[in-house]
Amino acid sequence: MPAPIVDDEYKKSIEKARRSLRAFIAEKNCAPIMLRLAWHDAGTYDVNTKTGGPNGSIRAEREYSHGANAGLKIAIDFCEGIKAKYPVITYADLYQLAGVVAVEVTGGPSIEFVPGRKDSLASPPEGRLPDAKKGAPHLKDIFYRMGLSDKEIVALSGAHTLGRAHKDRSGFEGAWTANPLKFDNSYFQELLKGESEGQLLLPSDKALLEDPSFRPFVELYAKDEEKFFSDYAESHKKLSELGCKATSPAFAAESASSKSAIEAYQGTSALLGQATVGVVVAGLVVALSYLYETKRKIIK
Ligand code: HEM
Repeated sequence: MPAPIVDDEYKKSIEKARRSLRAFIAEKNCAPIMLRLAWHDAGTYDVNTKTGGPNGSIRAEREYSHGANAGLKIAIDFCEGIKAKYPVITYADLYQLAGVVAVEVTGGPSIEFVPGRKDSLASPPEGRLPDAKKGAPHLKDIFYRMGLSDKEIVALSGAHTLGRAHKDRSGFEGAWTANPLKFDNSYFQELLKGESEGQLLLPSDKALLEDPSFRPFVELYAKDEEKFFSDYAESHKKLSELGCKATSPAFAAESASSKSAIEAYQGTSALLGQATVGVVVAGLVVALSYLYETKRKIIK
């Protein structure tokens, strides 16, 4: 499927869809499942084969019926209502926009949204998303395959500040935090308290406490919400754009425009450099001719 043409009309539709999503998510209290949809569409990316990623392929039954995606058909259907109003927007963009809006309307950080994702119906094989029953080595395998780091694993796991597990979907039950509709750093604070009555703690959550390359970030984010918000926003943007620069002209154009800005800057510095040399040379010429004149007067 071709990449969308991200012109002014497309950008206007994105802004309108953003407003519709804000209202819809607030009305239905469905921020957690919308965020999980965005993550599960993006989190299949494989940096080596450049397959999977935020491309809307999760809308195909063969993908949303993967075990890890249980329950997500609800969010796919929610997005269908917005897609009907703004058909020009790709599914890939719509799901990621829904994820960004879900974080924003629950009090989380603003995440920069760049439109232009290409739709695909090529579903990745089952098993690319993390298994909650496994530990740190598995989390690293899965997230490194996406091209993400230890810090990004911990920051993104902070999304479990929202929502809950459902017995009939994942086999687990309960919420991670006291207010699962508020995006804050309480996931990390609860994690440090350890197991407590009624609080959800998946084996994959415990892995963040036990692994020495994860734990310092858990401690940092538990005490510094601002740092969590800025690292989360950066990591979420990266997750939402995995593989996009390689496949979409809109993303390529974005990086080209920042490249030309750098080149323009470098060009200006080169010109300034040349001008500086010119001024110094002119100064020397003036000084030498002054000395020559003075010397001539003395000889006379
Ligand atoms: C680190 C590896 C991760 C594992 C093993 C994991 C696992 C799970 C599991 C088992 C559930 C419960 C699903 C259910 O029963 O409804 C869940 C829910 C959720 N996950 Fe994750 N997750 C991970 C990372 C992430 C990331 C990176 C994000 C977003 C950036 C995220 C966002 C969510 C949200 C918002 C929910 C709540 C959904 C709802 O309330 O319907 N998760 N996750």
